[in-house]
Amino acid sequence: MSEIKFPEKFLWGTATSAHQVEGGNVNDWSKWEKGNAQRLANQAQTYWQSWQREMFSEMLESRNYISGRACDHYHRFEEDFSIAQKLNQNTHRFSIEWSRIEPKEGVINEKEIEHYRQVLISLKEKKIEPFVTLYHWTLPQWLEEKGGWLNPKTPYYFDRYVKIISENLFNQVNFWITLNEPLVYISASYFKGVWPPQEKSIFKSLKVVKNLIKAHKLAYNSLKLIDLECQVGISKHNIYFKHIPLAKYFWNSYFLNKIQNQQDFIGLNYYFHRRFFEDKSLPYSGLGWRVFPEGLYHVLKDLKKYKKPIYITENGIASVQDVNRINFIKDHLIWTHKAIEEGVDVRGYFYWSLLDNFEWDKGFWPRFGLVEVNHQTFERRIRPSAEFYAQVCKENKLDL
Ligand code: FCB
Repeated sequence: MSEIKFPEKFLWGTATSAHQVEGGNVNDWSKWEKGNAQRLANQAQTYWQSWQREMFSEMLESRNYISGRACDHYHRFEEDFSIAQKLNQNTHRFSIEWSRIEPKEGVINEKEIEHYRQVLISLKEKKIEPFVTLYHWTLPQWLEEKGGWLNPKTPYYFDRYVKIISENLFNQVNFWITLNEPLVYISASYFKGVWPPQEKSIFKSLKVVKNLIKAHKLAYNSLKLIDLECQVGISKHNIYFKHIPLAKYFWNSYFLNKIQNQQDFIGLNYYFHRRFFEDKSLPYSGLGWRVFPEGLYHVLKDLKKYKKPIYITENGIASVQDVNRINFIKDHLIWTHKAIEEGVDVRGYFYWSLLDNFEWDKGFWPRFGLVEVNHQTFERRIRPSAEFYAQVCKENKLDL
């Protein structure tokens, strides 16, 4: 049996986001869910039933589309991190929920800052390195009412919130991720207009691009002022575009080019590839996403030009066939390793996700977790894929 070894001190872990796991959040998404759950359930009737992939009766129920108590991770983080520790993970990416910290404009909830301090202490006790995302798509409702990311003042509101977080928690955090997948958010919320605030307009999309770039830059400078040593980046969703150079430029490079001087590392989220003619031989995930691990290699090679350390801050598959998850992780790690051998400075891998979580407008039915969650009882069950990944994390190598 042969094996492939990863570089020393490679980080191995999982990623989550506040709204998808915590439960009990009151933000622009929770408001949107209430107004759209029934519509999404009705749509699922025709849409999902015609497509014959993984089918769940939950798709047709409106409660599937309400995040509600999610995974109750807010109250169970200790248990969840103990599981991650048992699974030999040495890093974890999570996000801080802005609406908890600043539920009303300019009013800071100290108790919630304390909550996240406890989260960080719990990780530290378990020797799990935190990567902290500051914006993972959810806004406080007061800010949504002020126009959200369309408001030219929002980058400054964001910067104010980032300063508060960092002044309080900088001691416990080495890695900050300011924004999660800015272009995915813009494309779904403003370009296609399907996610909150459902404002379909190219003009507005461009405005939000500008404001998010500004927000990142302000936050970068503030984080560095408070702690010069910390490492700051974004999580960028890049796609492998085969022979589609214009799309490649706008989707993969534009945002990263703009913030080149204000990022210490690149966080890469990889899920997709695109080509002119679909390769019908490739397998589907439970969400109908074609699986193409080789694309990760190409995307990594392309990022080499920035000469920055790279962390794969998300990569994962929704499937109830857990063996698909094992193969998915294995294949993506093989291609990651090839990129490393060819000189790409990849320093960590975060599987999406630790838990079965709330998957935005799809709700609860997609199963991304290494750990299965019963969303009624909140019971956790470790899947075989988690054990498989635990072995990789422990030995820093993959047996082929
Ligand atoms: C990414 C998001 C993450 C999760 C995964 C499946 O685009 O960043 O929150 O929804 O997709």
